[in-house]
Amino acid sequence: MSMQGPETRRAFRRAKAVIPHGVNSNFRYWGDDDTLVIARGQGAYIWDLDGRRYIDYRLGFGPVILGHAHPQVDARVHEAMRGGVTFAWTTPWEIEAAERIVRFTGVDKVRLTNTGTEATFHALRIARAYTNREKFIKFEGQYHGQVDYFMFSNASSNRRMIGSRRSPIPAAATSGIPKAVQQYIITLPFNDFEAVERTVKARWGDIAAIIVEPVLGNLAGIMPKPGFLEHLRRLADEYGIVLIFDEVKTGFRIAKGGAQEYFGVRADLVTYAKSLGNGYPVAAIAGREEVMMTIQPGAMAHGGTYSGNAVAAAAAAATLQVLEEDDALATIERHGRALMDGIRTILAEEGIPAWVGGPPSMFGVVLGVDEEPRDLRDYLKADADLYEEIGMELIRRGVMPDADGREPWFLCAALSDEDVAYTLEAFREAVRAAKG
Ligand SMILES: Cc1ncc(COP(=O)(O)O)c(C=O)c1O
Repeated sequence: MSMQGPETRRAFRRAKAVIPHGVNSNFRYWGDDDTLVIARGQGAYIWDLDGRRYIDYRLGFGPVILGHAHPQVDARVHEAMRGGVTFAWTTPWEIEAAERIVRFTGVDKVRLTNTGTEATFHALRIARAYTNREKFIKFEGQYHGQVDYFMFSNASSNRRMIGSRRSPIPAAATSGIPKAVQQYIITLPFNDFEAVERTVKARWGDIAAIIVEPVLGNLAGIMPKPGFLEHLRRLADEYGIVLIFDEVKTGFRIAKGGAQEYFGVRADLVTYAKSLGNGYPVAAIAGREEVMMTIQPGAMAHGGTYSGNAVAAAAAAATLQVLEEDDALATIERHGRALMDGIRTILAEEGIPAWVGGPPSMFGVVLGVDEEPRDLRDYLKADADLYEEIGMELIRRGVMPDADGREPWFLCAALSDEDVAYTLEAFREAVRAAKG
């Protein structure tokens, strides 16, 4: 049964006529029958063109931390845009956004960008310029945006492509990347203490950076093992490597200070996006004074016509203001825990082995596993088909997590106790329907 009602189907046909596959990002394409066209969002809900309402646990792949169309954020954005948006000069909006980011996260310096991809791309350049080295370590199953350098061994890779655990192969995740790029990337399994240590000790003279999503935000919210991030910190310190936390998904979501606060480990550079702007396109590269000041006009480039534009900067300033003044993250955490406990109980009662874990604000559900998965290689053993069936049954009942289990359940502050109760009821029905 198609997810599309008649209006949605008609609009999607128009979209396909002028936009490749009808979407402006490949991840949004769920096939010709199940790709939706959304009319609007409000709080925790979205409505498609046929007026069907869904409790939204995708939140645009994570950004909408406060809920859709948040009045306070939108009011400040409107105020900003009435005074013009782009000037090629610094504005007070940018200063306020940067000051708030510094206060929340404890970084020394911030540069605003528009997307997470721009932020990770520039972070790698800064790390290379700072160390005068060219290679970097990335972990399998992690996603750092659409930069050629990072599109290797991400969550869509299969076991054969990524080679053995002892000797991993950086597997290109897309056509169109020059072969020469592969030589700069060292891929390793996440949470493998020994593999990182062996690699760093053997090749440190070439390694500019270790980039890591502290929580696997693109692989079911898999958590770092206790001590793993500290291990990376120690190796980076010892061998002069720049440690980059990619906090595009975790930033301003799992804690006000993101993963650095949650795990008590500090990075040299941090990339933020998503929850920074409650859905408006804004991102940031941030970090330690000495590393950030590698950026130098005329010598070490970071630029962008729209970086820090008034809409983006006002959205960031306003979102962080709400997060500072409200107990939004505490509410999200409470609802996340209730959902995780409920889902765990239902799956146990229905006899489905599962791991339900990750931070409550972006938790994952992995089916058909007896133990906590620690990396992509473990995740590939999970029952992704059953998860997808349950996901589609949920969506038919007006509850919308991603049907792809690699994407965590994202929660926003607008979610209510009633939404949580409804979701759990629907989850039980969906599991039963999927089991047939
Ligand atoms: C961890 C991480 N880094 C970087 C990106 C890229 O961000 P953007 O889509 O804003 O370019 C994403 C996007 O999902 C992400 O999850």
